[in-house]
Amino acid sequence: MVQISWPRAAVLVLFILPVLVDARVRHYKFNIVARNVTKLCSTKPIVTVNGQFPGPTLYAREGDTVLVKVVNHVKYNVTIHWHGVRQLRTGWNDGPAYITQCPIQPRQSFVYNFTLTGQRGTLLWHAHILWLRATVHGAIVILPKLGVSYPFPKPDKEEVIVLGEWWKSDVEAMVDQSTKVGLPPNVSDSHTINGHTGPLASCPSFQGGADGYRLQVDTGKRYLLRIINAALNEDLFVKIAGHQLTVVEVDAVYTKPFKTDTIFIAPGQTTNVLLTTDKRAGTYLITVSPFMDVPIPVNNRTTTATLHYNNSLAATALTTTKPPAQNATPIATSYLDSLRSLNSKEYPALVPQNVDHSLFFTIGVGVNPCPSCLNGSRVVGVMNNISFVMPTVALLQAHYYNISGIYTADFPGRPIFAYNYSGPGPKNLQTMNGTRLYQLPYNSSVQIVLQDTGVISPESHPIHLHGFNFFAVGKGLGNYNPASDPANFNLVDPVERNTMSVPTGGWTAIRFKADNPGVWFLHCHFEVHTTWGLKMAFIVENGKGPEESILPPPKDLPKC
Ligand code: C2O
Repeated sequence: MVQISWPRAAVLVLFILPVLVDARVRHYKFNIVARNVTKLCSTKPIVTVNGQFPGPTLYAREGDTVLVKVVNHVKYNVTIHWHGVRQLRTGWNDGPAYITQCPIQPRQSFVYNFTLTGQRGTLLWHAHILWLRATVHGAIVILPKLGVSYPFPKPDKEEVIVLGEWWKSDVEAMVDQSTKVGLPPNVSDSHTINGHTGPLASCPSFQGGADGYRLQVDTGKRYLLRIINAALNEDLFVKIAGHQLTVVEVDAVYTKPFKTDTIFIAPGQTTNVLLTTDKRAGTYLITVSPFMDVPIPVNNRTTTATLHYNNSLAATALTTTKPPAQNATPIATSYLDSLRSLNSKEYPALVPQNVDHSLFFTIGVGVNPCPSCLNGSRVVGVMNNISFVMPTVALLQAHYYNISGIYTADFPGRPIFAYNYSGPGPKNLQTMNGTRLYQLPYNSSVQIVLQDTGVISPESHPIHLHGFNFFAVGKGLGNYNPASDPANFNLVDPVERNTMSVPTGGWTAIRFKADNPGVWFLHCHFEVHTTWGLKMAFIVENGKGPEESILPPPKDLPKC
């Protein structure tokens, strides 16, 4: 038997202790509850976490383990997705319904349990079933490890700014109705800034007509704003009158800092900016407005908030700003072109230099017959002309337990029929349907060229990959040319993120290393397109030994 003297044990404890306090376990409880909320002069019940809209911010440090007990007190099935969290070997906790788990049924609960590895910055969590994420969403703030500083000047204060969308009507009822008749769902009635719709002429009485978010600041300070686009279907521009913003991080990855007066942010994306309050005291307008550069309806309303210097007199004039035009493609493009990985010694950009699986996915819509629909047809979402059919058993379970008949691992690596993709599309717009997955060996290097199609209309799509960050190594307009375009790829410091907008009528090439075994969703983060089927999933096989294999499922994993 090994004997350890007391002084010796004390020394050991002293050495081990810093490690223990360095990585903490954080406990959260999310009660999913309905609550009546009044906005835009009308009241409706919404689904919330703990009665809050937006929901509570989850705070942790890099390396921490987070346990969130979700208890479902509403009539809907619920799941929560930790958007952008890598979930290394813990795919069971990722959250997309019927992809990695069966939903948490009414009166049931599930404890999500994951560790934040190698990520720092801002992410978001949101419901990943039906359209519940309209009101079930919130911020994830991952602070650097204790004693580690930001790679940019230390902010004096931090603020979380969650952007969302608000419908006056019941969102689930509205979506059900649109699915039934085969027409697109209604656009929202307002954007929200931390839950505030901003003043609206048609509803002047509501809270004195001033239901606007107010960002109170002190003069001469540096603020870190953690901006999250939790909207369902809208790319957004964000501006603060009279102030430049310095982008320092996107999707919980540090970037090379750059200054801009306008932020472009797609649903599912997060952006950290530094704001220096060095202007004269007063009130400055904040605008949140949509981006859409083709004739597809969006909520074209600009929602406003104010930046308010604390030492200002009540009567100080408001400095205003004009939001970009709705179709301001050059502003969105130049913003995206400015994004670069920090790629420092501490935070290198580990861009895959070689490719094992070179994939080409068209993204867009198609038209399928629908006898019960108003027009006898409906628009569906497609990748490689396959509209994804949701299974009724979670795919990760089907994969893990080898249950056959749930999916096929034959998603095509390129379109089955070639056509001029960025043109108006083939004569026959009908699609295939299926629960088809693409299987990847552990640790393979993957490149996907995401090619927008012109079927019905080209459109910019924010494509989100679960379980990985990817590098956006190249992009262009029109059709991707495999002979000439790769020469222009940035394999040094491309932006690393989990959600990327593919340009309207163009393409984006992304690369990632499949080093996380599991089943991982890839989909358009416009909820309308996900609903329509613009989605697929990857199976990433286990590697060698337990360290490269997915962990066994949690005991309380919900059953279908
Ligand atoms: Cu933020 Cu699969 O989603």
